[in-house]
Amino acid sequence: MTRVMNFSAGPAALPQAVLERARDELLDFRGSGMSVMEMSHRGKPFMAVAEKAEHDLRKLMNIPDDYSVLFLQGGATGQFAAIPMNLANGQGMDYIDTGAWSGKAIKEAQKYGPVNIVASSQASGYDSIPDRASWNLDPNAAYVHYTPNETIGGVEFPDVPDAGDVPLVADMSSTILSRPIDVSKFGVIYAGAQKNIGPAGLTVVIVRNDLLKREKGPVPAVLDWALQAENDSMYNTPPTFGWYLAGLVFEWLLEQGGLEAMAEINQRKATKLYQYIDNSAFYRNPVEPSARSWMNVPFILADDGLDGTFLNEADAAGLSSLKGHRSVGGMRASIYNAVPESAVDALIEFMADFENRHA
Ligand SMILES: Cc1ncc(COP(=O)(O)O)c(C=O)c1O
Repeated sequence: MTRVMNFSAGPAALPQAVLERARDELLDFRGSGMSVMEMSHRGKPFMAVAEKAEHDLRKLMNIPDDYSVLFLQGGATGQFAAIPMNLANGQGMDYIDTGAWSGKAIKEAQKYGPVNIVASSQASGYDSIPDRASWNLDPNAAYVHYTPNETIGGVEFPDVPDAGDVPLVADMSSTILSRPIDVSKFGVIYAGAQKNIGPAGLTVVIVRNDLLKREKGPVPAVLDWALQAENDSMYNTPPTFGWYLAGLVFEWLLEQGGLEAMAEINQRKATKLYQYIDNSAFYRNPVEPSARSWMNVPFILADDGLDGTFLNEADAAGLSSLKGHRSVGGMRASIYNAVPESAVDALIEFMADFENRHA
């Protein structure tokens, strides 16, 4: 068996130790005589899995007690609609526009009420975070939404923006668990699982409990946070296998030393890759240095005629899924928690060798 070094943006690499454990437990889950996929979500064995996963996530992220943690379906895209439906009730909503994913969140929210784009980096090709002084926040907005990490553009907020008393809502799909964050600064944090949490099909929502009491119009039951919180995310059948696997990832992260330890490794991985790119005349990263993502590193070759050769040779060297998103082209290395530092070292070595041969 050969496992490649996987730089996929999502669904993305999972820790090998987690996959091995899932394999070992697959046919007979902890003496139950069945796999975790085949058992009732309401039975004791799965309830224990569900509770442990939530407990470990709370510990990893230091989630205060007045927040609910929901394990849902429908992806981050489902939450693009759930957010206005649960929070706005026709009230105005503030959005910060920093690229493809905030754009999709905005488009969805516009179906449910007035959206105010309070800041945008569109004019500079989404290569930076709009200067805080230019934001036009409405103190009466239902919430402020932003995308801490734009997975396609590789643009990341260096810190948590201050939204005053208006609840801050963050799409953390591609940055959650990459470093410690102060959850108490947020009204809502949500993430599709398929990058730093687990397999696709699970969506995690962390919501401050007072926001569950907001007045709202009709909301589909599966997207109704208050209903899901009352039912421990089991109003309907939850994505049991994803929930289980996420639990294994949370255990693995705790074993690695938690999010402080991950932050140190992630920063080191990203810094060395950006440094290599910046020192080369052959590769280029288009993002302003203060807004560069730790998780998704896009880069372009000076001669895009070499893109195909680069990808073929990378694949042959065991470096997989480096093609940039179809909307922007070029390359992108996604270096989530499960991508080891040795894979980043191997990528840099390959890039240097390719440059030597083709520059
Ligand atoms: C930042 C961000 N938001 C939202 C999404 C959409 O997530 P989903 O496919 O889970 O709906 C993605 C997917 O890659 C993403 O990277």
